[in-house]
This record gives sequence, C-alpha cells and structure tokens, in this order.
Amino acid sequence: MKKSLMLIALCVGLAQPALASTATATTLYDKLGGKESIRAVMDDFVSRVAADPRIGDQFRNTNAIRLSALLTEQVCEATGGPCKYAGQDMKSAHAGMTITKAHFNALVEVLIASMQAKGVPFALQTDVLALLAPMHRDVITVK
Ligand code: HEM
Repeated sequence: MKKSLMLIALCVGLAQPALASTATATTLYDKLGGKESIRAVMDDFVSRVAADPRIGDQFRNTNAIRLSALLTEQVCEATGGPCKYAGQDMKSAHAGMTITKAHFNALVEVLIASMQAKGVPFALQTDVLALLAPMHRDVITVK
C-alpha cells in the first residue's frame, strides 16, 4: 500500500513539471493571435496616432504602412513570435525628435485604445505595455 502511494506521488511529481512547461510554452505572441492580429492593432494604432492632437504632428511625414510594418515586427519579436525586427534601435529612431514624457504617455494611451478596439483582453494589454514601457529610456529625448 505504501509503495503504491509512493508510486502515485512520484508520477504526480514527474507529471507536474511536464504540464507546467506545456502551459508556459504558449507565448504572448500566440495569445495575441499571431502576426495578423498584431498587424491589425498596429494599423489601427498608426492611424489613431496620426490623428491625435497631442502627438499627431510628429508623425506628419511618416509613411504609415512602413511604420505599422516595423511596429508589427518589433512587437512580434518582443512577444516571442517568429519575426526579426529590422528597423532602427529605439535610441537612433527617436534621436533628434522632441519627445517628452507626456508625448510618451499619450502614445501609450493611443496604443491602449487600439488594443481595446481590436479586442485584446486587458491582461494581455498589460503584458504588451510591460514589454514596451522600459523603452521610454531610449524614446524620451526631453527629460
Ligand atoms: C514604446 C514606445 C515607442 C515605440 C515602441 C516606438 C517604435 C518605433 C519604431 C519601431 C519606429 C520605426 C523605426 C525605423 O524607422 O526604423 C519608430 C519611429 C518613429 N517614432 Fe516611435 N516608438 C515609440 C514611441 C514614440 C513616441 C512617444 C513618439 C512621439 C510622440 C514617437 C515618434 C516616432 C516617429 C515620428 C518616428 C519616425 C517615423 C518615420 O520614419 O517617419 N515614437 N518608433
């Protein structure tokens, strides 16, 4: 009796790590619905950004299709997807621009609005923002 209990305990013990690793194998990229879902958010985001009274001006000469494609690649890669972001690093991309903390926060608000509009669940919105938030160090040029 004791032996069989031990065997069961051993099996449960062995099974748990296997189950746990299967559960964590789903990336944020997968949870977001893959590249096309990310692209849909970014297309929406780029057009909202251009129309936003707080930051729209900064994007007046921007090629929206190109920016959306780069953002899609960037988020795809950052969330564990099979992409390779080939744009500039964040410091170089924003060098020479006047970007304040208020601009950064406005952009984050717009991104939340786009994720909301495209049906990204709140918990996943938070996960995406947590990946992007540390970039403020390289993006904000006016301290
Ligand atoms: C976490 C925040 C941000 C991320 C992840 C981000 C990401 C990017 C990326 C991937 C590019 C393209 C780089 C390339 O051309 O190779 C870019 C360009 C740009 N970003 Fe940001 N950005 C952020 C915040 C901001 C903010 C706050 C502003 C201003 C309000 C801004 C304004 C611009 C502009 C004007 C461009 C140039 C677009 C062009 O080529 O015309 N970005 N950004």
